Amino acid sequence: MQAIRVHRFGGPEVLTLEDVPDPSPQPGEVVIGVRAAGVNPYDTYMRAGSYGARNPALPYTPGSDAAGVVEAVGAGVADLGVGDRVFTSGTVTGAYAAKARATREQVHRLPDNVTFAQGAGIYVPYATAYRSLFQLARARPGERVLVHGASGGVGTAALQFARAVGLRVIATAGSEEGLDLVRREGADVVVNHRTPGYHQQILDSTQGEGVDVVLEMLANVNLGQDLKLLATRGRVVIVGSRGDATITPRDLMTREASVMGVLLWGVSRPEATEIGAALGAGLRSGALRPIVGAELPLRAAPEAHERIIGSTALGKIVLVP
Ligand SMILES: NC(=O)c1ccc[n+]([C@@H]2O[C@H](COP(=O)([O-])OP(=O)(O)OC[C@H]3O[C@@H](n4cnc5c(N)ncnc54)[C@H](OP(=O)(O)O)[C@@H]3O)[C@@H](O)[C@H]2O)c1
Repeated sequence: MQAIRVHRFGGPEVLTLEDVPDPSPQPGEVVIGVRAAGVNPYDTYMRAGSYGARNPALPYTPGSDAAGVVEAVGAGVADLGVGDRVFTSGTVTGAYAAKARATREQVHRLPDNVTFAQGAGIYVPYATAYRSLFQLARARPGERVLVHGASGGVGTAALQFARAVGLRVIATAGSEEGLDLVRREGADVVVNHRTPGYHQQILDSTQGEGVDVVLEMLANVNLGQDLKLLATRGRVVIVGSRGDATITPRDLMTREASVMGVLLWGVSRPEATEIGAALGAGLRSGALRPIVGAELPLRAAPEAHERIIGSTALGKIVLVP
């Protein structure tokens, strides 16, 4: 089968398409025929070797979000069969491949109303959005949430979750297409984060009261200003950051506000069960509809990595083996 392999850490050019042996399931595992693999920013940091002791052993196949069909079932797996449609929350052998091995716990049923390309855009973005909004910020219906960077994978997921429970959503994007996308997804207020003075637009949209929750995709750029946009006891969840930030601590004191970080891989088993249940219900009801912005062939993995870091976002980029 074909798979993307990384033999040394580096730029997108280290992602190479190769022929590798087909995987066989170990006990407690399944093999999935991958129909689509989601590209996450995290895949690019890992490819660059920026995780120190947590870097994968070389060579490896990137990717954790896959969707496809069960092709083989290992001993001890009784509740999944060949032909079942599934998506993953991680794999053993990597998602950027024609086939992937995954443990039973990493495999979830893909509802019939969700395409494979959408299925590849579920776990990392939606689980991160759910954890940030509900398990960490404890957002409640009626509150105001600023999704600061709403046009990408996590942002669109957060927008859909927030809308589904009755939060008032202020969504930002950095391109006209991105603004259209978040408007179509039902944001109550849409703001361009590349327009000078846009913070005032956000404050004005709350009649000066501020927002209760911020989901922040680029904290190194925005954290200092986020604190000035908060209402009393507001909460900022840092989802993404690519450098250091400067804040004015008094902005937190005067609002009794808090800042927290999210780490998807830090969820406990009960929290993961809760996330799985919320994803399943939202997908089946249609409240959650992953947005596929681009489908590229597997061999275009280097281009996909360049695009997810270098250009404006429009939903998810997925690779099709
Ligand atoms: N902590 C965790 O566990 C976890 C899990 C998943 C993801 N993440 C991180 O979260 C971030 C977002 O992930 P993603 O999958 O949504 O990436 P993505 O699909 O590439 O989207 C990136 C988003 O950031 C926005 N953005 C760009 N410049 C911005 C600015 N100056 N201010 C506010 N937003 C800006 C983009 O908007 P435009 O392109 O429209 O400008 C887009 O909406 C990444 O850094 C990722 O590594 C963390």
